[in-house]
Amino acid sequence: MKPGVRGVHESGSELGYTVGENSSEYFQFVLKPGCNIRRWEYVEISYPDHAIVGRVERIISRSDLLKDNLGYEGVERYVENHINEIVDICRGSTLGTIENGKLTKSRYLIRPGTPVKRAGVAILTGIFNPPEESALNIGTLVDREDVPVSVNVNGLRRHLAIVAQTGAGKSHSAGVIMEELIKKGASVIVLDPHADYVLMRQGEGGRSYSPFIKIFRTPLSTGRYSRDNVGIVEDFTLRFSDLEPDEISDIMGIKENWTNLRKIVEDMHSSMKGLKDLEDFMMSTEKISPEDRKKISARIRFIKKIKSIFSTRTTGLKDYVSPGQLSIMDLSGMDQFLANYFSYRVINEIMEAKVSYDYEYPVFIFIEEAHNFIPPGSSTNISQIIKRIAAEGRKFGVFLVVITQRPGKIDQDVLSQCNSQIILRVTNPLDKKALMDSAESISDAIIEDLSSLETGEAILVGEFVRIPIIAKIRERETEEGGGDVDIASLLSRARDERDRKNSIEADRERVKNIFGG
Ligand SMILES: Nc1ncnc2c1ncn2[C@@H]1O[C@H](COP(=O)(O)OP(=O)(O)O)[C@@H](O)[C@H]1O
Ligand SMILES: [Mg+2]
Repeated sequence: MKPGVRGVHESGSELGYTVGENSSEYFQFVLKPGCNIRRWEYVEISYPDHAIVGRVERIISRSDLLKDNLGYEGVERYVENHINEIVDICRGSTLGTIENGKLTKSRYLIRPGTPVKRAGVAILTGIFNPPEESALNIGTLVDREDVPVSVNVNGLRRHLAIVAQTGAGKSHSAGVIMEELIKKGASVIVLDPHADYVLMRQGEGGRSYSPFIKIFRTPLSTGRYSRDNVGIVEDFTLRFSDLEPDEISDIMGIKENWTNLRKIVEDMHSSMKGLKDLEDFMMSTEKISPEDRKKISARIRFIKKIKSIFSTRTTGLKDYVSPGQLSIMDLSGMDQFLANYFSYRVINEIMEAKVSYDYEYPVFIFIEEAHNFIPPGSSTNISQIIKRIAAEGRKFGVFLVVITQRPGKIDQDVLSQCNSQIILRVTNPLDKKALMDSAESISDAIIEDLSSLETGEAILVGEFVRIPIIAKIRERETEEGGGDVDIASLLSRARDERDRKNSIEADRERVKNIFGG
């Protein structure tokens, strides 16, 4: 038997026999000496007309001889005389029965003494991949790189949540899903507060995607990467005269319950003359009372400061929604309320188009750092529209992908409306509890496993998979931004720079000493 990928043995090989008590849901088998097996591996029990597929949940190594009360010398004596009767017992749970090529819930009894084999590639590939047309290929099984894993795009009907602690691979995974959605021709919008996705057109892989990716940036976004790195960027701008008074207030950072200030903006708006542009709006401060002018002055100073977002054109739906196009809204460096305003504008426009059947294709909206847009109990415009989509978006073909590292600090209704989840490493008990409360499909066993996941390993649960899967998310084809900074290499560069500076100064000092300063 030759070892397969990463030291794991070939599929189909005999592993042992079932022993003791078994049922249709659980089974246990004694491991054949010399066989290696790891937790979460898949096994099969074959019968002439069907096969039961299961997963190893626990491995126990036991000896009836080497008891814990034996003491060191007693154990040593046994070991030195090669008297050790170790038994490895694997406990597994059944995932289902394959009968006529179909996976169904297993109701067959498993009897002791039945051979157990490592599950074959074909059987696993069949289970973990929906038909090509609806498959989004996102990686392989953990420890079985020979078994591809795809999720079902139809399962995204009831939204997707990507949850994990920082650095576990959320943005990477979201990027993989975006690539797959582009391949499928989906219309995708990304709210990107930290410019994590703006490099997606770069690099070798990115080039093939670049015709389908547009990056939008308001003149206020700082953009974490220069335009040289990012390539062509579309300006996201507004024509002042297109705005309603409420929108002007939103942009000025006037909260919805500051009714006094909102009223002043309305008054100014209605007394505008001329082209009704920003200039005209400013001029209308002369039409209001001196007290009102004083009250609104700080907000007027603010809108002057951000006047670069206004131009002769309002970026609209047709710019950012189109079949097979990924539109990344680079919101980096913007105040949260302005990011909220722009995001609301975009999403609201999409929702209106979908509700009125003006745009027929499905639209996927990725919300990165979602806890900032929809904190619990918030009733801003952006949080309301997101909640509305979570509740009824699927009726109109608008689907959310919510990305967060704070499952407890995000509106719980939205999280629980996400019927599919990609959960990567989570160690914080409070976050685990929030996850557990958010969906029925997340069992104790899954929660227990979350701490031991490596970066890029994910538990997939919910509507987009048939059974929970632990997968290794594949490499990205497009370039990533926003990965972890490598502190060590940056510090090494800093040391070089210090040394260079010091040596220049030392040289100067020497020259000064020689020639007298
Ligand atoms: N499936 C994966 N394969 C390879 N590298 C990965 C994978 N997932 C994440 N990484 C790497 O781990 C780092 C953190 O990933 P990232 O997606 O930025 O995490 P998060 O968004 O959860 O903070 C990045 O450098 C990324 O390239
Ligand atoms: Mg991230």
